Amino acid sequence: MSESTPFTVLMVDDDADTRQNLRDILELDGYQVDVAATAAEALARDHWAEYGVVILDRKLPDGTAEDLLPHIRRLAPDAAVMIVTGFADLQAAIAAFRLGAADYILKPINPDELRTRLRRIAEHRRDRESLREKTRELRATTQQLWQAARLAGVGELAASIAHELNNPLGTVSLRVEAMLAKTPPEDPRRRSLEIVEQEVERMARLVGNLLQFSRAGVNQVSTVDVCEEIRRTLELVEYHLRKHQIRVEPDFAPGVPMIYADRQQLRQVLLNLSTNATDAMPNGGRLIPRVRSGELAAGQPAVVIEVEDTGTGIPLELLPRVTEPFFTTKPEGKGTGLGLAICRRIVQQHQRTIEVQSRLGEGTTIRITLPVRPDTNVAGLHVG
Ligand SMILES: Nc1ncnc2c1ncn2[C@@H]1O[C@H](COP(=O)(O)OP(=O)(O)OP(=O)(O)O)[C@@H](O)[C@H]1O
Ligand SMILES: [Mg+2]
Repeated sequence: MSESTPFTVLMVDDDADTRQNLRDILELDGYQVDVAATAAEALARDHWAEYGVVILDRKLPDGTAEDLLPHIRRLAPDAAVMIVTGFADLQAAIAAFRLGAADYILKPINPDELRTRLRRIAEHRRDRESLREKTRELRATTQQLWQAARLAGVGELAASIAHELNNPLGTVSLRVEAMLAKTPPEDPRRRSLEIVEQEVERMARLVGNLLQFSRAGVNQVSTVDVCEEIRRTLELVEYHLRKHQIRVEPDFAPGVPMIYADRQQLRQVLLNLSTNATDAMPNGGRLIPRVRSGELAAGQPAVVIEVEDTGTGIPLELLPRVTEPFFTTKPEGKGTGLGLAICRRIVQQHQRTIEVQSRLGEGTTIRITLPVRPDTNVAGLHVG
């Protein structure tokens, strides 16, 4: 434990020699010391918040410790008050505990005794601080969990709206089809109807996508075309990307094999990554989804997926933390810090890792390598 716990001690004592002696001793131990000779002088101080300990002579020319204590509690609620008392006054000093004194020490003051007691007070302060810190952390985590639960609620709501939209969309689509069938090619209304048909199709696709995303998370492994999944995911956020002037430049190598994976989970990973990339480019930029064939360390065939952006990048010291649950640099209400944590968990379920590369001010690339066929049988993937 440190001998020089840095907090300011206020000593209130009418005896000039005591003040000077104790001040010298405590300053040698590394404490900041302030002194006052009377209750009035002490109360007139204007930096009470700095005092960690007040050493208070029980009998001052203008009052007793019992008189002064309520004022001290008000001025410095966190300061520990130590009453200095003669043996004859011990009962009165003990009474001072009822008014919030933390400790007492007998006159004449033994410097070693004083040191021990100050150290104890310092320890208490540290414990209290760390308890406060933990309480703060707990409060923040609870807040984030609420946020996550709320987001899940919003997801459910979006799913139910998507569900509701499905039927009217079906009706519109059928009607348009019927009208188109009755409209001859040279009819000037035909072009408009065709546009309506295309747009309805687009809406149906979006709604279908949204429903797929929000379907309850039973792991279902099947053959998946990664490029197709990326296209569909980006379709879902297309409006968002356009609004933020983000150009999508897919770079898909030809002949990439299908992989065995959970389609929903893969989509969730891709959605999280593209959302992060979008957030990192508030003034526009380029989003480059890349897919190519690769190999895992053991020479096992794999598919490498990269999501590259030309955004803000991640400071080097934060890189190791970005996949921690609840780590976010986004303002409250915007990020929960779960996106990459979920990605990491999913990718690990598929038995592979996720790499993050970033250069501050230039952009970020997230790379995921997935085996074409998992090592274990399909059931192996269900074990989290
Ligand atoms: N492409 C990126 N560019 C810059 N920073 C990023 C990028 N992706 C992630 N980060 C950083 O990593 C942090 C954690 O990302 P993560 O997706 O886990 O949470 P989030 O996006 O903050 O919140 P959530 O995804 O839960 O809404 C982000 O707050 C951001 O600071
Ligand atoms: Mg995110």
